[in-house]
Amino acid sequence: MFTIEKLTALEILDSRGRPTVQTTCSLKGGFRATASVPSGASTGKAEALELRDGDPNRYRGFGCRRAVQNVNQKLNAALTGRSLADQEALDRALLELDGTQNKSALGANAILSVSLAFARAAARQMAQPLYQYFAGLLGVPLQTLPRPTINLFSGGKHAGGQAPLQDVLVVPRSARTIDEALAITFAVYQSAIDLIAQKYGMRALKADEGGLAPPFASAEAMLEDAVAAIRMGGFEPGRDVSLAVDVASSHFYRDGRYQLGLTAMDSSAMIRQIDDWIERYPIVSLEDGLAEDDWPHWPKLRECLASRALTVGDDLLCTNQARIERAIALNAADTLLLKVNQIGTLTEALESCRLAQAAGWRVTISARSGETEDNWLADLAAGWRGDQLKVGSIMQSERLSKYNRLLAIEAETALPLVNWPN
Ligand code: PGA
Ligand code: ZN
Repeated sequence: MFTIEKLTALEILDSRGRPTVQTTCSLKGGFRATASVPSGASTGKAEALELRDGDPNRYRGFGCRRAVQNVNQKLNAALTGRSLADQEALDRALLELDGTQNKSALGANAILSVSLAFARAAARQMAQPLYQYFAGLLGVPLQTLPRPTINLFSGGKHAGGQAPLQDVLVVPRSARTIDEALAITFAVYQSAIDLIAQKYGMRALKADEGGLAPPFASAEAMLEDAVAAIRMGGFEPGRDVSLAVDVASSHFYRDGRYQLGLTAMDSSAMIRQIDDWIERYPIVSLEDGLAEDDWPHWPKLRECLASRALTVGDDLLCTNQARIERAIALNAADTLLLKVNQIGTLTEALESCRLAQAAGWRVTISARSGETEDNWLADLAAGWRGDQLKVGSIMQSERLSKYNRLLAIEAETALPLVNWPN
């Protein structure tokens, strides 16, 4: 049993310098913990509502004072003194207190900050590492660590739209440990910096998630430069290091057409385009190849990728159970991109994770483009048996806090890396 003694929230800043919510949860017995929530920019339409103040004179409307106040006043008043059996009891109470479908009354940012801070405080009360607590929620023993898929090149909404693909990521497939995965990625990343200096005559400008963002001429140029950087780093593309791509195509889909660079394509042409990339480049995971509302074509995309690359749904699924169920029924994807703040509580995200795993899908545990130095995501990825971990590049401390935590989890548990890609 856990009894909440106090909830205190604070408006802090994320990696884009925008406000977000940090909450401290104190439990009876002196167990106290703090957690911070991330924030997306390339958001799906079905995401839970992130409550912002909307005052144009303060942080261009991005302030989180109302969300903070909802924790300090409403949630603190309603939950102080409440005895809760477990995480699920807390999260159900949060859902009831909000009472809306998309968490617009209290804000998903306010709600998630409490859900996470409680998890960490509860883990302390149980004298468990946070990854162990998360494994306990899933109800399955720890088995593997996720394979990091690490942002090399950025475009789309994370880089001012200078290139069409949102992320080209390195998949260090020959790595047997997190430690090896990071060392391989460092070599590729440094080679990419050299390549950009030679080819574009510029220093390494970085996008929101720390990916390199020169003015690539096309999607193909991004992929070709990635393959070249892998070679320059001393690795064999496709054998030692493969690629993952987040097309994030919802963000260039208008009136039934995909506006990729200068070409406008219908859904079938977009699938043919993706098929061509998969044939030409060592891509083993492809996220949001089609738009979030293009449901009729997703099964065709999945069929096209089949055994060659994972069909990952981010904006399509929004970590939302109803959307995941629909995708399972339609055979529209085979990998859930899980972002806890898309749905707003740990329990709902856990149910989404379970649903995907029960269907034989893989799960990518993902950060957001706006992150904080908090590292709970690494524990979540280990505890919930993530297949991939997607937290951005190996630059910038809000990303490295997760990789560094994963190194610590690896040292503590000696768990092997997941068997993917196999
Ligand atoms: P976001 O992007 O955090 O800006 O939404 C990440 C992604 O699309 O995977
Ligand atoms: Zn995405």
